[in-house]
Amino acid sequence: MFELLPLSLICLLLFTPLDSATVLPGISSSPFGLSRRTTNPLLSSLQPRSQLESEANGTMFLWVIQDTYQGQNFFDRWDFYNYSDPTHGTVTYVNRSDAFDLGLAYVTPQNQVIMKGDNTTWLASGQYRNSVRISSQKQYNTGLFILDADRAPWGCGVWPAFWTVGGGAWPYTGEIDIIEGVHDNQHNQVTWHTGPGCSLTPSSNFTGTSVATNGQPNLDCNGLLDNNAGCGVVEWSRASYGPTFDAQGGGVFAMKWDDQGISVWSFYRAAVPTDIVSGSPDPSTWGKPVATLEPAGCNPITNFVNHSIVFDITFCGDWAGNSYATSGCPGTCADRIMDPSNFVNASWIINSLQVYRKQLVYGGVSGAESHHFLSNQVVRWMPLVLVAVSIALLGV
Ligand SMILES: *[C@@H]1O[C@H](CO)[C@@H](O)[C@H](O)[C@H]1NC(C)=O
Ligand SMILES: *[C@@H]1O[C@H](CO)[C@@H](O)[C@H](O)[C@H]1NC(C)=O
Ligand SMILES: *[C@@H]1O[C@H](CO)[C@@H](O)[C@H](O)[C@H]1NC(C)=O
Ligand SMILES: *[C@@H]1O[C@H](CO)[C@@H](O)[C@H](O)[C@H]1NC(C)=O
Ligand SMILES: *[C@@H]1O[C@H](CO)[C@@H](O)[C@H](O)[C@H]1NC(C)=O
Ligand SMILES: *[C@@H]1O[C@H](CO)[C@@H](O)[C@H](O)[C@H]1NC(C)=O
Ligand SMILES: *[C@@H]1O[C@H](CO)[C@@H](O)[C@H](O)[C@H]1NC(C)=O
Repeated sequence: MFELLPLSLICLLLFTPLDSATVLPGISSSPFGLSRRTTNPLLSSLQPRSQLESEANGTMFLWVIQDTYQGQNFFDRWDFYNYSDPTHGTVTYVNRSDAFDLGLAYVTPQNQVIMKGDNTTWLASGQYRNSVRISSQKQYNTGLFILDADRAPWGCGVWPAFWTVGGGAWPYTGEIDIIEGVHDNQHNQVTWHTGPGCSLTPSSNFTGTSVATNGQPNLDCNGLLDNNAGCGVVEWSRASYGPTFDAQGGGVFAMKWDDQGISVWSFYRAAVPTDIVSGSPDPSTWGKPVATLEPAGCNPITNFVNHSIVFDITFCGDWAGNSYATSGCPGTCADRIMDPSNFVNASWIINSLQVYRKQLVYGGVSGAESHHFLSNQVVRWMPLVLVAVSIALLGV
């Protein structure tokens, strides 16, 4: 499934000299024994670009960038969804030309990507509010997805999501809801929807709380049960959704999907790890995720296939409409939708969305034993190889 590069190329990738202002984290725990404390001018001029991690079986890998969605070209590789909302929102999803013409999707001169619900039009009773839903043209099978956003939509009657969904018949190719909430909730909810046979493992290995149905934790991810509820986990952080997320400058959400399972982390702005900022993400250093779907309860490869990435903002509907009366929001959702000033916070402000793929550092087809042998040899000889490559590169 993962592509393989020759070791020499990886060395080049890893140890191309960076400018001296770039200081990356994790150097002192580098598997190569290079240390920030080193006084050797040759070695100290070489900073790893990416962080090596190792699989349970000892195979080394790193996350390398696959796709970057940001800035003026952001919308080029997305489709605008212009059908009725399958979750029954009182929304009209507009097509690409309308989205740009109506100012519901654009990129600012500062390269921030904006998607929003209409906040300028008064509606008659029963009329639907314009908004956008976009899907990545590219489909993914595994990856590390990192969204940096200054704001995410919220407000009474508003129901936004940042999610991925399989290309086949729903829910059999899976759905991963990374950011989702309604009204002025303050806690993000991560949810999986799958075909039958998938469950959340009751586990202390994530920091969130599983969503209960009728007082019992709902661990069954089968999207066909419980009104399509799926299996959800609510984050503990008050800055993970809504007013506080926006007020403190947003942050970063990361979703890691590989054969170890599917995990989500969120970091409010001041806590974004430097390895994410520098473009060399190392999830093994991020601490416990807020939510994890472990392979013990759900095969993350067979239940999640050909995923597009989706952003949307809907109104009322199955979640925001059905929960409105108990939300503390004023009046009814149907009334709420009419006044445009109720939707001033229903907007995404996105700095970037990056997708990384797992790159095994070496490999072959000759079987597990030689793999393991290779792995030991590589670790043993890596420092020497690196010095040789460095000397060749720098001409020292
Ligand atoms: C959606 O847009 C496509 C082309 O952009 C068009 O062919 C189709 O008729 C539109 N569907 C609706 C429901 O507006
Ligand atoms: C976009 O939708 C509008 C209706 O709102 C329609 O008039 C227009 O033809 C559509 N554009 C395309 C490219 O489908
Ligand atoms: C996933 O996409 C590939 C390539 O388009 C296709 O061959 C395959 O049938 C798809 N798998 C499912 C389960 O939809
Ligand atoms: C939690 O993580 C630890 C270390 O990764 C692992 O040994 C343990 O089995 C996990 N617990 C559960 C319940 O999955
Ligand atoms: C929008 O956000 C601001 C700042 O948090 C808040 O004061 C205001 O009430 C919000 N408006 C709506 C309609 O949610
Ligand atoms: C609509 O919302 C945007 C933020 O998305 C805000 O800048 C603008 O002032 C709002 N317009 C009105 C008329 O409230
Ligand atoms: C180690 O695990 C990775 C990921 O599961 C796999 O791709 C690789 O083939 C495994 N290596 C060996 C030697 O089994």
